[in-house]
Amino acid sequence: MVQRKPLVAGNWKMNGLAADLGEISRCCEHVAELGTSLAAEVMFCPPATLISATVERCRSARVAVGAQDCHVAQSGAHTGDLSAHMLRDAGASAVIVGHSERRGDHGETDALVGAKAAAAHDAGLTAIICIGETAGQRHYGLTLNVLERQISGSVPNAATGSNTIIAYEPVWAIGTGLTPTPDDVANAHAFMRERLGGLIGAAEAAQIRLLYGGSVKPANARELMQIADVDGALVGGASLKANDFCGIIDAFVTK
Ligand code: 13P
Repeated sequence: MVQRKPLVAGNWKMNGLAADLGEISRCCEHVAELGTSLAAEVMFCPPATLISATVERCRSARVAVGAQDCHVAQSGAHTGDLSAHMLRDAGASAVIVGHSERRGDHGETDALVGAKAAAAHDAGLTAIICIGETAGQRHYGLTLNVLERQISGSVPNAATGSNTIIAYEPVWAIGTGLTPTPDDVANAHAFMRERLGGLIGAAEAAQIRLLYGGSVKPANARELMQIADVDGALVGGASLKANDFCGIIDAFVTK
């Protein structure tokens, strides 16, 4: 039987100082208050400088902590980089790989993203692999081609429901206030599930959580999260303030 517990993950990107940790504490208090009425896991992915402090704040509410990137190697002469093992050592249980901002800003290829996901698995971290088309690719009707290429190129063959999460983040929807229609999200997610099945088998693919990301807010979270095959959200801007992120978390409260 397929049981995918939804995940609401906040990606702080290059935002946040120690003084901002109170926002995380407030969210954790809210999660603790919700108790078993919250039918979702919650995760914060702060900048690496705040991982240890975030782990401390999140412990009692059982809120998970993830990182935003990792190097492919376990250690070595790579000034400024962090390995998946180091992130795990700092208390992270997951790491985002292949975010479009890293693919764009740092020229990360599908193969590199796949290697990072494999490094995450080696370290015992869950890899949150991001995929999604640009506005231009969408304009030319290439969305599914892009998703196909990114899935086959950046999802390791050893991906399972417990070590891998895929986030569909249309690049044009990130930070713009724009979102795809529910039908477009449903089509993309159904396609992703199907392609994952081709890669790792339908039974394993059915266990993998597929997140939607891109301008998720309290006002649209409920509608987006009800879409078939959407197993949670990867939230950027709206995860920075406790009020906003709690509003999104509330979309997963069962009556
Ligand atoms: P926004 O929620 O700010 O659009 O960012 C989405 C995102 O990139 C999360 O990884």
